[in-house]
Amino acid sequence: MTMVKIVEVGPRDGLQNETAAVPTDAKVAFVNALSTTGVSEIEVSAFVSPRKVPQLGDAADVFRRIHRNDDVIYSALVPNRQGLDSALAARVDKIAVFTAVSETFNRRNINTSVAGSLGRFQPVVKRAKHAGLPVRGYLSTAFWCAFEGQIAPEAAVALAQRLVDMGVDEVSISDTIGKATPDDVARLLDRLLPKIPADRIAVHFHDTYGHGVVNTLRSWEFGIRTFDASVGGIGGCPFAPGATGNVATEAVVTALMNKGAELAVDIGKLGLARNLMEEFLRAERRTLPDRESQACAVCEHFTGDGCCRQAAAPA
Ligand code: HMG
Ligand code: MG
Repeated sequence: MTMVKIVEVGPRDGLQNETAAVPTDAKVAFVNALSTTGVSEIEVSAFVSPRKVPQLGDAADVFRRIHRNDDVIYSALVPNRQGLDSALAARVDKIAVFTAVSETFNRRNINTSVAGSLGRFQPVVKRAKHAGLPVRGYLSTAFWCAFEGQIAPEAAVALAQRLVDMGVDEVSISDTIGKATPDDVARLLDRLLPKIPADRIAVHFHDTYGHGVVNTLRSWEFGIRTFDASVGGIGGCPFAPGATGNVATEAVVTALMNKGAELAVDIGKLGLARNLMEEFLRAERRTLPDRESQACAVCEHFTGDGCCRQAAAPA
């Protein structure tokens, strides 16, 4: 059985949207705690414009100060050549370029068209690979866009293929606004997997409508084994109105374990990492998403997935 890989995106996707100023010390402690949990990869930060995403302006400092665990890949978002220079100087293990199927979202997020983003990435991917770094390509708005509505799966497949043709090792299929349903996931994976094998695909679900776990399980049934998640479900995208955090790592891990997935993640240690950031954000009068809305404390199932609370609910 293939081991499941969990890509913990909390320090980047989780914190990029955080209104409270999170000091570098707190980020370093968060990444260090996550490094002991058994996740395969931690997306530590982003080498993007600090004017656009001020919260991650200390990316280089965070990378310099974290204690690296040899079993963990420490990655970062890189939008252009300038970002790659900074990422290489910070000794990242892996980079992620990021584009979207939606033209409108791309313009708002990275100030260029889809074609323009591919033109920017080409030299970045080439140089990163020359430097021996694996490259992930995010495919945002793969299902829905806040501006353009539902996205045709064929358009998502075509762009994923272009990323692979460019040399990207792994494509992360992203539900940026958290609106995809398991049927949407199935429609896309049905068309994608004949072209790109499951071991080069990751899924990245935001949990705006509470579909993150059921979408994870649907993807698992299709043979996907790499799952992005954010401990405590923190996060969102500052350029996608209404989008909330990623599906919580602890919910994803519990749901996959219930399915019999092989996973090396320690749920107790995930809880400690979550508590660390939760305590900090509470002190800033911020709260993390409600634990109860993610996993039932009694049966550990999730709303819509055979939870005991549902069975007991009056008709
Ligand atoms: P641009 O606006 O086209 O401008 O930037 P530019 O290239 O002409 O540069 C403008 C200014 O930015 C200049 O500074 C550059 O030096 C600076 P100024 O002269 O004005 O002082 N700059 C940079 N600074 C640091 N590092 C860099 C860099 N590049 C330019 N790499 C750019 C284009 C993409 C850089 C900009 O629009 C940007 O940073 N956007 C932020 C994008 C972002 O981080 N979005 C959130 C992450 S994506 C996401 O959350 C989705 C995902 O989770 C998947 C999903 O859920 O869908 C991945
Ligand atoms: Mg995201």
